[in-house]
Amino acid sequence: MTPSPQHDDRPPMGWRDPAQVDWYVTRIDRLPPRLAGEAVVVEVLPPDPRRVLDLGCGDGRLAALVMEARPSVEQVVAVDSSPPMLERARERFAGDPRVGVRQGDLTDPITPLGEFDVVVSGFAIHHLAHERKRELFGEVASSLRPGGVFANLEVVASATPELHRTFLDAIGRAVDDPEDQLADVADQLAWMRDAGLTQVDCLWRWRGFALLVGSAATS
Ligand SMILES: C[S@@+](CC[C@H](N)C(=O)[O-])C[C@H]1O[C@@H](n2cnc3c(N)ncnc32)[C@H](O)[C@@H]1O
Repeated sequence: MTPSPQHDDRPPMGWRDPAQVDWYVTRIDRLPPRLAGEAVVVEVLPPDPRRVLDLGCGDGRLAALVMEARPSVEQVVAVDSSPPMLERARERFAGDPRVGVRQGDLTDPITPLGEFDVVVSGFAIHHLAHERKRELFGEVASSLRPGGVFANLEVVASATPELHRTFLDAIGRAVDDPEDQLADVADQLAWMRDAGLTQVDCLWRWRGFALLVGSAATS
């Protein structure tokens, strides 16, 4: 599969920068590997989820995919720290009483948000320090109802600097995002298992993109 990215030589300015947000949301559909990863997210959803949490929701794209795929969804909590991203998410979900878009920082505990049947995250958790990723996986495990699913579509570390370079080229990035703190797949799967999640695996991968999935035990 060959993506057709638009190459961009600007240094990333951070997710609070409206120009970076504009650039990001207009290129999403031009990355076929991302769309392939999203298709697998939909496949792993439980059949009738009611409450959904989207961590680092951006413009709400992943939450919208879940709602479209699972009409059983009654409530979505979509959290992000970036004002311009939140503005886009609020526009997307305007008039939909099922969705609450909230400003929040993933460095803070998510457990006060309640219990969920699905926790999704798209390309967001890699912005956190590794220790916080580990803690967050524990909080996700505590927040999932029995049988609930955590699906984390992520940017992950490549095995070598050369492979990382090839990945950046393939997605049209000239330079790394300085906010990225990429972890490798094996470490993250181990952290998810340590957190108490079951059926943990990397269910899809393309270069530096991966879908890491785990479930809460059914009883
Ligand atoms: C690459 S974008 C992905 C957006 C969206 N989830 C998607 O799938 O397209 C990364 C998102 O993570 C958010 N983010 C990064 N660090 C965060 C943090 N500490 N707390 C909350 N959101 C964060 C950014 O504001 C941005 O919206």
